[in-house]
Amino acid sequence: MTAQLIDGNALSQTLRADVAKRAAALKAQGITPGLAVVLVGDNQASQVYVRNKVKSCQDNGLHSVLEKYDATMTEAELLARVEALNNDPSIHGILVQLPLPAHIDAQKVIEAISPAKDVDGFHIASAGALMTGLPGYWPCTPYGCMKMLESIGYKLRGKHAVVIGRSNIVGKPMAMMLLQESATVTICHSATADLKAMTLQADVIVAAVGKRNVLTADMVKPGAVVIDVGMNRDEQGKLCGDVDFEGVKAVASHITPVPGGVGPMTITMLLVNTLQAAELAAAQAPAH
Ligand code: GUN
Repeated sequence: MTAQLIDGNALSQTLRADVAKRAAALKAQGITPGLAVVLVGDNQASQVYVRNKVKSCQDNGLHSVLEKYDATMTEAELLARVEALNNDPSIHGILVQLPLPAHIDAQKVIEAISPAKDVDGFHIASAGALMTGLPGYWPCTPYGCMKMLESIGYKLRGKHAVVIGRSNIVGKPMAMMLLQESATVTICHSATADLKAMTLQADVIVAAVGKRNVLTADMVKPGAVVIDVGMNRDEQGKLCGDVDFEGVKAVASHITPVPGGVGPMTITMLLVNTLQAAELAAAQAPAH
């Protein structure tokens, strides 16, 4: 078997076209969806990420402001900026790029963001809403993975999904989303005794560890669906995921490539969340 690719670029194009259409409809009502991206310090990878986020907004009819601050910014100064953005009616989504410099308590900053503008879905109110099945913003990467499964018409009900990784940004929310769709979910991590015994039982595997070759062909049940969230470099410096793509694609029914898989979906879902925040704000705004 050679797995079918789930193309994150193609799916992103479709979803972004819908975002652009909805953004235009809001603009016609006099509301331009706005995202504020806050970057503190000079982390190289973060600079690339935030540039891509801002450009993607502009390409799809969203207004975006990038606030860049020196690594010496104090926690109090950053909290004051977040508060100002919470109160800015032209801003519907706030994203504080992580990691933050060590002297700033990232969780404190995240909790300062209004849940109504928490388009990253990292606030504990957002995490709690996801856990209890209430409306709220879902973290963009696992949300994008769910859209990829939906795009192939995959029915999760009664299936066994194995998530490798337990981060607050991907692994844990991913497990909650899969559970919400009535999958039986196993979360594996660095202390899991026998990872292969778990993954061999899986109908769906999401690899989100940040380490190459975490999942190899001998660990995959024939016909399983494999989603690769990893973003690593091989010895030649080439971008690769957590999955041994060449090996696993001979066993899986569907697989996401790296690059061109989950990566573009993360930004796409950020646009979707921001647009939704703007639509909700528009619905609550007094009629004029
Ligand atoms: N750093 C790496 N990924 C992300 C993300 O999705 N959101 C934020 N805010 N920071 C990140």
